[in-house]
Amino acid sequence: MAIGFNIQNGNLFVDDISCANIAGQLETPFYVYSAQKITQQFRNLNDALAKHWKGQGGQPLIAFACKANSSKAIMNLLGGLGAGADVVSEGEIRRAISAGIPSSQIVFSGVGKTRSELEEALVLGVHQINVETAGELDALIELCIEKDFRAPVAFRYTPNVETDTHAKISTGEEDHKFGLLADEILSLYAKATASGVIDTKGLSVHIGSQLFELEAFEQAFTAVADLIAALRANGMTVTVADVGGGLGIPYRSEQAVFDVEGYASLINRIFAPLDVRVMLEPGRYLVAEAGALITKVIYLKDRPEKRFVIVDAGMNDLIRPTLYEAYHPVTPVTAPADQTMITCDIVGPVCETGDYLALERSLPAVQPDDLLAILCAGAYGSVMSSQYNSRPFIAEALVNGNLWATIRERQSVETIWAHESIPDWLK
Ligand code: LLP
Repeated sequence: MAIGFNIQNGNLFVDDISCANIAGQLETPFYVYSAQKITQQFRNLNDALAKHWKGQGGQPLIAFACKANSSKAIMNLLGGLGAGADVVSEGEIRRAISAGIPSSQIVFSGVGKTRSELEEALVLGVHQINVETAGELDALIELCIEKDFRAPVAFRYTPNVETDTHAKISTGEEDHKFGLLADEILSLYAKATASGVIDTKGLSVHIGSQLFELEAFEQAFTAVADLIAALRANGMTVTVADVGGGLGIPYRSEQAVFDVEGYASLINRIFAPLDVRVMLEPGRYLVAEAGALITKVIYLKDRPEKRFVIVDAGMNDLIRPTLYEAYHPVTPVTAPADQTMITCDIVGPVCETGDYLALERSLPAVQPDDLLAILCAGAYGSVMSSQYNSRPFIAEALVNGNLWATIRERQSVETIWAHESIPDWLK
């Protein structure tokens, strides 16, 4: 059985199902995911953690950062493999629970949780709330006193570690809005403990996304270990170290793959001696390579310097290329009749010059009605889509071996404005 996206006789398959077959039944554009590939990524990481972990207590828990892909079917798949969830809003908490992830496996992160979201998290009984500001701790203490709750809290630490990634997804320095500095945590931890209503669990850290250098992780984890030692020296209880996500994936075939073994061994080396439960919050690593956006060529337009391939998916369906200058591989879905290679920009129908999926790509000379796959789009693809230009949210399909199903229907155009109204005084 094939796993993930693979080419058979020039045709693109997801596991054992041809993408063209799915495109015969779903209107383009649509997202398609491989359950086998998600399973493989989860097992790679989970097995490496199990192999290297020599600490006491359970092996590290993978809490899937579902901001990367919050499809209920995919969360259910990961939950079934043993993953918990890292969530950042009331919507994500409720989604995770409705996808079958127990609240005891849910970590609530986020820099701007509202009081009502915090209350919801306490009512639903999440495993831990990662606090990022002094005001958030105050709000939690007040809520607990008012409503007779106890809140399980970890503090998100900003270790001031530089990362080699896109500026918009780097998060571990003090001029980023995230987390708390060591001095702040030392005093807030004591305040939380003294409140009598907070169960202080430990620390969390997340320094950025799409990272490959283990040195950056090592600096951040070492800083967490040092702060745990300082907290314990002050008589504080620390039982959890949440090491965040950030594991990179190879968007370009020549790019190195993430050193999962080295990462698992690093986690063991730094945290096993501390007698803490380790949690992880990977998103992209688990799902990015397992997803593609399938789109149809509508028109071609030739200019002296280039050819535009105008397709039916736009920046509203996949914003990463224009938002982060992100590279996604593009491949024809069926073996092209004409193998002449041309260089082209693959652009969408949205009325913006920034509406492109790929620039300066060498592709076989595709024609209108041909299908293209934008690969490595399983993370931060569908979840970041919008209805800009009144374009509906598109369908999503999941393949598992030789089975496939629609896991989200394409939205009807009318539902885009279903909750809008025209005031009487305009009529
Ligand atoms: N934990 C926290 C607290 C986070 O903020 C994030 C991602 C993760 C975990 C998961 O990180 P991952 O393992 O996926 O790298 N939209 C951007 C990525 C934004 C990441 C935001 N935070 C993109 O498309 O590249």
